[in-house]
Amino acid sequence: MKTWLNDAVVYEIYPQSFYDTNGDGIGDLQGIIAKLDYIQECGFTVIWLNPINESTFFDAGYDVTDFYKVAPRYGTNEDYRELCAEAHRRGMRVIFDLVAGHTSVEHPWFVESAKPTRNDYTNRYIWTDSTFDSPEGISGYGDRDGNYITNFFWCQPALNYGYAHPDPEKPWQLPVTHPDCLATKQELLNIIDFWMDLGTDAFRVDMASSLIKGDTDGSYTRALWHEIRAHIETRDPEVLLIAEWGSPADAIDAGFHCDFLLHSGNEAYTSLFRMEEGRNTFKRLYTGHSYFNRDGQGDIRTYLNRLQYDLQQIDGRGVVGMITGNHDIPRLAYRRTEEELKAALTFLFTMPGTPFVYYGDEIGMDYLEGIPSKEGAFTRTGSRTPMQWDEGKNHGFSESDTPYLPTDGRPEPPTVAAQAADPDSVLNFTKRLIRLHRDTAALHADGAFDVIAAGYPFVYTRAAEGKTLYVAINPSDTAYRLTPPPFKTVLLSQNTVVGDGMHMNGVSFIVAELA
Ligand code: NOJ
Repeated sequence: MKTWLNDAVVYEIYPQSFYDTNGDGIGDLQGIIAKLDYIQECGFTVIWLNPINESTFFDAGYDVTDFYKVAPRYGTNEDYRELCAEAHRRGMRVIFDLVAGHTSVEHPWFVESAKPTRNDYTNRYIWTDSTFDSPEGISGYGDRDGNYITNFFWCQPALNYGYAHPDPEKPWQLPVTHPDCLATKQELLNIIDFWMDLGTDAFRVDMASSLIKGDTDGSYTRALWHEIRAHIETRDPEVLLIAEWGSPADAIDAGFHCDFLLHSGNEAYTSLFRMEEGRNTFKRLYTGHSYFNRDGQGDIRTYLNRLQYDLQQIDGRGVVGMITGNHDIPRLAYRRTEEELKAALTFLFTMPGTPFVYYGDEIGMDYLEGIPSKEGAFTRTGSRTPMQWDEGKNHGFSESDTPYLPTDGRPEPPTVAAQAADPDSVLNFTKRLIRLHRDTAALHADGAFDVIAAGYPFVYTRAAEGKTLYVAINPSDTAYRLTPPPFKTVLLSQNTVVGDGMHMNGVSFIVAELA
């Protein structure tokens, strides 16, 4: 099924760090509206906002206290409506980050749920039936006798959608058909309707596989999301579901239109850019050599085999998001030169999927080491620093004397203003890639993908509508000589000489249309 994601180029915005219009040191929705022209001029067709709901910000907004309200620091629900309308006026779409599986401990539902007396919210969350007997969950919270199950941090109690196979020994595990679990599901549908009414074009669902507990074969979770998709489709079939699942084959089976390979679950995505100890800040689980590294010791097959499996399973029913990075992992530019970064970006924009660019990656913003944690970001803080617009105060992010996070204080960090003026900048290169991607059907998610060589260099073709593009990427320092089929036009290249055969020097790439 072909959706608008097939040829989309998405821009992920971490709202608190994008652009502050009221001088309080925190980005806001009016700031995003003010920068829509910039985003459109870059060529992005869709924006995804990290959570904007009212929150305790113990986990940067993934700890919601009111699902029906924009966090006051970002503005109002009317600002969100305006943002959607302004995006739509420019032919762009908006993705809302839906935290479907948990809330903040300070959400009024949880406050009620933590009370020892029975009430409407007693079963809105999952509680064991004794604080002392059961080792599960967070214990000793409030006066309720029991422990609550979390989804992520201690402050994020899991909403109760029920258990696939409740353990008869643990009567607190309710079946998914229990009226209180059905009430949780109904509330989720209400939340979806609410944000659709304000103009939302898609939902990025946080931890989408986490809702139903103990779902060993995933069948209950699939049924749940299919039901939600059907609900959305009866209202507006253009509104799409994007999963944070980390397994596109599973997520698309569950009814999502898109999912990503991520840093968690397996090493496929990490193996591309973030395997080295220094670049692998959050998951020391996977260590070794990135494919995109000058030492040429990585293995593209770690990623490729997984991607090809996913593409085969998906079989055109959805798309894989090709992320430059996100708010959870070190930035793509971290410990990379501009040439290395351009090679990585060329790969991401020519692979069979939908590019998702994390704000600031289009100018090569760096991961900042050693920044004290803010809002539950911990080591992720260095990837969440304010957008660098220009040379001014706080790099144009905010007029405040005390921005909630510092900008890159080193001399001459990349900024939009400086890069706009330099034809060879990462920004102008990214813009060229976005144009090429948008204008070339062969590069859209559903364009044919054939691998010619899965080593250094990585060589593949993309084809659609009678046009075939040849792509060769060599992230290593080693030079290679290849004999590709005849080219009609070279569309992009770096450190590559086409003549008698093709000479790829270190850190090189070429994208060419075949004759
Ligand atoms: C995934 C989000 O991307 C991450 O930032 C968050 O901390 C967890 N889910 C918990 O909601």
